[in-house]
Amino acid sequence: MILQLIIRELARLEVLFMTHPFIVFEGIDGSGKTTQARLLAQKLNGVYTSEPTSSDYGLKIRKLLNSTNSNDTELALLFALDRLKHCQTIQTHLKTKPVICDRYYYSSLAYQSMAGVDKEWLKQINKHFLEPDVIVFIKTNVEQAISRLDTNEKYERKEFLMKVQEEYEKTFQNKKNVIIIDNTNMSILDTHKTICSRIKCLL
Ligand code: TYD
Repeated sequence: MILQLIIRELARLEVLFMTHPFIVFEGIDGSGKTTQARLLAQKLNGVYTSEPTSSDYGLKIRKLLNSTNSNDTELALLFALDRLKHCQTIQTHLKTKPVICDRYYYSSLAYQSMAGVDKEWLKQINKHFLEPDVIVFIKTNVEQAISRLDTNEKYERKEFLMKVQEEYEKTFQNKKNVIIIDNTNMSILDTHKTICSRIKCLL
């Protein structure tokens, strides 16, 4: 009986320990993080996923990002609700493969706080989400980033994105598991190779 209990407990622990890495990409719109997240997912034979998702909350978010009078607190709540469901999917994938996630709750902390939403409250509503193993923050020249955009969503303005990028830098500067890459004037391939070599030390 005791032996059976021990075996069951060991099996449970093995499931807990045998998860794959959860890697998050962050950066401003047009920074090139989507391209890099996809390349890394391919390289690691992992699952690429992104936020906002295509859930009902994600669709509502997309509508608000394209409307002129959306409310940033409402958006913060919708991003968190979208993330709640997304996290369950991520946890399921992590049992079998690495997960590479394009934007996560650090986007809410940077974008919604720079839009005027209280940062402590943002941290509170996001505090129970799974922590990533590694965060890759792609820093870039804001003008270059803007010139790459072919959409015209709510947050895609130069002055605003400059503030968001500074906020990201503050959040990540003393964090251990963060890779910060400035890809200004770097090719897609060189950026990818740099990410791959630096990520090895953290996984
Ligand atoms: P984005 O990654 O740019 O999606 P796409 O490349 O498909 O347009 O995300 C859309 C916008 O959502 C972007 O401006 C950042 C914003 N966003 C937040 O403001 N908070 C969040 O928590 C997330 C996930 C995204």
